[in-house]
Amino acid sequence: MLYYGADYYPEHWPESRWPTDARLMQEAGFNLVRLGEFAWSRLEPAPGRYDFAWLDRAIDLLAAHGMRVVLGTPTASPPPWLMAQHPDAFLVREDGLRATYGHRRCYCPSNPAYRERTAAIVGALARHYGAHPHILAWQIDNEFGSRCYCEHCRQRFHEWLRARYGTLDALNEAWGTVFWSQEYTDWTEIPLPAATGGVANPSLALDYRRFMSDLYVEYQALQIGELRPYSRGQLITHNLMGFGYEGLNYYDLARPLDLVSWDNYPRGFWATAQEVDPAAPALSHDAVRGLKGASFWVMEEQSGPSGWETMGAAPRPGEVRLWAYQALAHGADAIVYFRWRTCRFGTEQLWHGILDHDGRPRRRYEEVKQTGQELARLAAALAGTSVKAEVALIHCYDSRFAFQVQPGNPGFRYAGHALDLYRALHRRNVAADVVPPTADLSGYRLVLAPALHVVAPQVAENLERYVQQGGTLLLTARSGVKTATNTVVDLPLPGLLARLAGAEVEEYDSLPAGAAQPLAFAGPLAGRPPAGQATVWCEALAPRGAEVLASYASGWLAGRPAATRHRHGAGQAIYLGTCGDAVLLQALVDWLLAEAQVRPALAAPEGVEVTLRQADGRQLLFLLNHAQEPREVALDGAWRELIRDRPARGLLRLEARGVAILEKA
Ligand code: GAL
Repeated sequence: MLYYGADYYPEHWPESRWPTDARLMQEAGFNLVRLGEFAWSRLEPAPGRYDFAWLDRAIDLLAAHGMRVVLGTPTASPPPWLMAQHPDAFLVREDGLRATYGHRRCYCPSNPAYRERTAAIVGALARHYGAHPHILAWQIDNEFGSRCYCEHCRQRFHEWLRARYGTLDALNEAWGTVFWSQEYTDWTEIPLPAATGGVANPSLALDYRRFMSDLYVEYQALQIGELRPYSRGQLITHNLMGFGYEGLNYYDLARPLDLVSWDNYPRGFWATAQEVDPAAPALSHDAVRGLKGASFWVMEEQSGPSGWETMGAAPRPGEVRLWAYQALAHGADAIVYFRWRTCRFGTEQLWHGILDHDGRPRRRYEEVKQTGQELARLAAALAGTSVKAEVALIHCYDSRFAFQVQPGNPGFRYAGHALDLYRALHRRNVAADVVPPTADLSGYRLVLAPALHVVAPQVAENLERYVQQGGTLLLTARSGVKTATNTVVDLPLPGLLARLAGAEVEEYDSLPAGAAQPLAFAGPLAGRPPAGQATVWCEALAPRGAEVLASYASGWLAGRPAATRHRHGAGQAIYLGTCGDAVLLQALVDWLLAEAQVRPALAAPEGVEVTLRQADGRQLLFLLNHAQEPREVALDGAWRELIRDRPARGLLRLEARGVAILEKA
């Protein structure tokens, strides 16, 4: 089933307007709306006094216009009375200051009183709506995040540490607390890594991030526990923030959910960048799909200029439609726009939806409507199809958390480095799954593991098994540096991965911002076009069984190996001792794709993204032109173009920001 709709806030508008909204939504082809996720003060105006009558009326009206509902639990924005009753439920920020009322996400997820009030409102909603025929799904809270540093959290952290380490001796050993005389003699002495007056112990800082992530998983479980007993087949989801967000371990958060959804704002928030990097939303789609290895929903899809204090760029004509198709192309089964109509008041007055403040349908509405009409025709063809990839990108939250504490190089960003690698695949229209380091990799021809910094023994074994059995693996700089407790290994780098890499890092150099070191290809890469440049890190490698793929061409490391390839078992491990510019990464990824015999869905000109959704014998090819000019794509064989329902062969013309979906004729 394909779902299409918007996030709607009936409580923001006079009830007399609702019928107009419902009619316009129906005309746009909507069959889904999300409601209620910030409506706590209207749902429970006073402690224990629930008022669902207005929501019932809104749901009935929308259902009469063909829509089903995702109902949000309203816990992201508590009403003033609740926080006035429980002032210690305000989260404490990293600087030690307690939040005050006035924004959202102001609560502490471990606070007992907040949990009680949460269970009460969610339980009341579940009892009222659990068997409601028009409620398709629940969305729990909204975009979990925000770490808390309060006393409750500190106590919970101590419990968490006890469960993990058992004894203080084990913790002191694992964290290396002998450094600066920090050996703890009582659990209650252990601080939170905030306001410590300087950089906290990295082991403490990593464990605290893991703990906070677990705390949100637990808080989410509390809500699931209230919903499940009353839900008659309703799905439970949460709206995530894609690959860009790194506060929580989304693999853990996704596990108990029926499906995952995420919020996609390709034109960014307050950024003024004129051009969208299509690889960025593509990576987020793939990362979210990878959380459960299943199709997903976009719960908030950008439909207008973003803005709180200042505004971001307006979506250009065709973009809202193009982004919807890009999401489908990466495996989404629902597109829900944020938001139906731009609000006249509150923090998000400047955050635009499909309709402007005056509620009149204009260009963006027409584009959404056109897309809705197309999707109604496409739904049957898309049903049951999904994305299948031969390449995996490893996404390691432990490494990401560790880099938050110590990026090593001030310019290094795990997410940016991963995106740079992914972009090289994306430019070749090769699909990728984004998977955790412990995933079963045996189905992939090629695995890219950017900066796998924290490596537990079972991760090293998993990668070794994969290569042994014939896989091709790419490792990059700063891999294998850390143990699972965020201390540095006492081994030559890349630590537990050195045997697999067949090489050791002899020395390393952290480059200043903007600096680069030219490289020269060697061995199987010799004679290829320019090798590009090393960036951020220059590691000088000593082969221990590996052959050299590239060396530094100048500078104090001139002639020293920068990249190696090690044949291991039936496969090969490639180690790249730098982050690398786009030229280097493209050349390397192109070579890796050839080595692993991975072919693109279709060769297409620059700016045209191609993906494949498939199901038993059926193949749907998505062609997405992100360029501002028309492009021509050469097709082999005879196809049927589904949106325009006509045959296609030879040269297919795509308009600027145009889309085509092809099925083999
Ligand atoms: C999302 C959030 C929405 C809305 C939107 C625009 O992150 O889930 O509630 O705030 O951003 O700011």
